[in-house]
Amino acid sequence: MATYSEEEIRAFGLVKEALPKHVAVIMDGNGRWAKAKKLSRSAGHRAGVDRLRGIIRLSSDLGITSLTLYAFSTENWKRPSDEVGTLMALLIEYFTKEIDELFSNNVRIRIIGAYEEFAPTVRNVIERAMKRTEQNTGLNLNIALNYGSRAEILRAANLAMKQVVAEGKDEILAEMLESYFYTSGQPEVDLVIRTSGEQRISNFLLYQISYAEFLFPEEYWPDFTDEAYLSALRVYQSRSRRFGGLEENA
Ligand code: FPP
Repeated sequence: MATYSEEEIRAFGLVKEALPKHVAVIMDGNGRWAKAKKLSRSAGHRAGVDRLRGIIRLSSDLGITSLTLYAFSTENWKRPSDEVGTLMALLIEYFTKEIDELFSNNVRIRIIGAYEEFAPTVRNVIERAMKRTEQNTGLNLNIALNYGSRAEILRAANLAMKQVVAEGKDEILAEMLESYFYTSGQPEVDLVIRTSGEQRISNFLLYQISYAEFLFPEEYWPDFTDEAYLSALRVYQSRSRRFGGLEENA
């Protein structure tokens, strides 16, 4: 695995210690990308999948701890059934074809969301990918599937409530609630990127993005190149993060 040295990272105009630990991406614009090229929406989603390799590889090589990709929301079931079918077929194809490379790059795959509601064919391939990579210690690749943040918070609250009752206590503490999130044990999100110029969060990681920086690049997801990603990371590093406090040296 080729993790970049500090010098190589500097050559990208970045500083290793100031890189985000957790990047979350809303991969928006596959449909508009396809329409602009007079292609089918399926072709747009396929082009979107093709972009995953570069972004995952770069995140891994830069030493980013977690990358969370919004691949299928709880609301995406409302799309026409042939489009849902295409996305499911792409998921199966993706995990089947890419698993060896992800494994050898020390990537750990985690699915966040109620993926147990997917058809067995999809579930099996996902579960195999998670199992195969569970001992890996590099990039945490969280793929949000059948994910909605409100549902995640409600699920965590219910699980925490059960714990509180079982322990005879009467209060849910923040750490207890957080321990039931799908992203438990991973750093909070530092940077959210939504491509295609749309500026919405769409029920994505609402709790985990409390102090995140937001970037809304204009490119449609299939056009979001490695260079565009590096450029987003440079903008992130130019922002001053105060977490509600004052600027250092202010
Ligand atoms: C948004 O574009 C994109 C999606 C709803 C799906 C994102 C999924 C992928 C990139 C591929 C599946 C992922 C994996 C891990 C194999 P849109 O269709 O909403 O675009 P539009 O707003 O331009 O119509």
